Amino acid sequence: MVTHCLRSRALSCVPGARLLTRCKPRLVLGIETSCDDTGAAVVDETGNILGEALYSQKGTHLKAGGIIPTVAQKLHKEHIEKVVQEAVDNSGISPCELTAIATTVKPGLALSLQVGLEYSLKLIEQYKKPFIPIHHMEAHALTVRMLHLVEFPFLVLLVSGGHSLLAIARGVSDFLLLGQTLDEAPGDTLDKVARRLSLKNHPACCTMSGGEAIEYLAKMGNRLHVELTQPMSQHLDCDFSFSGLRNQVNQIIVKKEKEEGFREGQILSCVNDIAAAVQHTVAAHLAKRTHRAILFCKKEGLLPQPNPPLVVSGGVASNEYIRKALQIVTEANGFSLHCPPPKLCTDNGIMIAWNGIEKLRAGVDIVHNPKGIRYEPKEGDGGTRH
Ligand code: KG4
Ligand code: ZN
Repeated sequence: MVTHCLRSRALSCVPGARLLTRCKPRLVLGIETSCDDTGAAVVDETGNILGEALYSQKGTHLKAGGIIPTVAQKLHKEHIEKVVQEAVDNSGISPCELTAIATTVKPGLALSLQVGLEYSLKLIEQYKKPFIPIHHMEAHALTVRMLHLVEFPFLVLLVSGGHSLLAIARGVSDFLLLGQTLDEAPGDTLDKVARRLSLKNHPACCTMSGGEAIEYLAKMGNRLHVELTQPMSQHLDCDFSFSGLRNQVNQIIVKKEKEEGFREGQILSCVNDIAAAVQHTVAAHLAKRTHRAILFCKKEGLLPQPNPPLVVSGGVASNEYIRKALQIVTEANGFSLHCPPPKLCTDNGIMIAWNGIEKLRAGVDIVHNPKGIRYEPKEGDGGTRH
């Protein structure tokens, strides 16, 4: 059992060992359970990943046709101990060598956040470590700084299953919001389109998230065969909207199903073309709104010159086509594009541990008495995903 193992390691924490560890780099254990991934990692101050582990619930939710919060919570409860143990074991350190424990407390699914927070509070009590509460989207925004130096302030586009936002990152916990989605997030749209297209029945896509499946099929499709209009072309701000696109795609799917004499669960012959058109429309919308944000930052002199950075992260930022669209915009406007590798764009424990390191370095949000710490949204505030 994980708890036993962690306890027996604690016994090796003799007083002299404390003196020895003092000059070692600081270490943070990060724990992520905000949605459907149970992640943990130990990261040091220089960005070395000492140990990590991830349990993805994707397979279960794909079969169920969406994330059911109570199911997500049950799976987090079943896996959190094993995942944390694996990350700590892989790191080769004893938990008492940790400087702090950092955990996602918002935003996310209340029932999922609860599991990570409660488990972390137990560890904190056991090992007498400080706690660092983490905002999931801030963690996505800062991940890239673990890999190479991107100085504040920078422009950041965060695109995931629950969010779409543009902000200026001015410091570790200091973000100026420029725009966000008015309805649903791009990852949510891609997941719902994939579900509507019954992609879980497609032999090549059955284990992929909606976004991954759309990217995979789009490579074999012709976007010009399916006509979609761009969202919000008249809006002079940096907000996003994806629900209109989803409605358009649904109408096209209904029409194609009629034409093909469709049966429930069948895959349309034009599925690749639909995927290509949807991916292109999402990419173009993200690129256009980001372009507006770039022009705004230039006009107001909000970012350092030359070559201000645009950081892009969150699960949807794994998409190569979307990255290329953003590359075109950044190159044309003298910005530099920075994206973490796909594995670090989707949810993981590493980004949480790294945000803990950033907060330690900045001396912010280090909590020695975590009794008043709560997750947000609290239970009953709706079961929406972040
Ligand atoms: O950041 P993330 O792991 O979890 C949230 O915070 O929501 O993002 C998950 C989302 C899902 O909607 C998934 O379909 C999407 O990221 N995604 C992708 C790709 N890989 C994952 N979207 C587009 N292209 C991809 N390659
Ligand atoms: Zn995320």
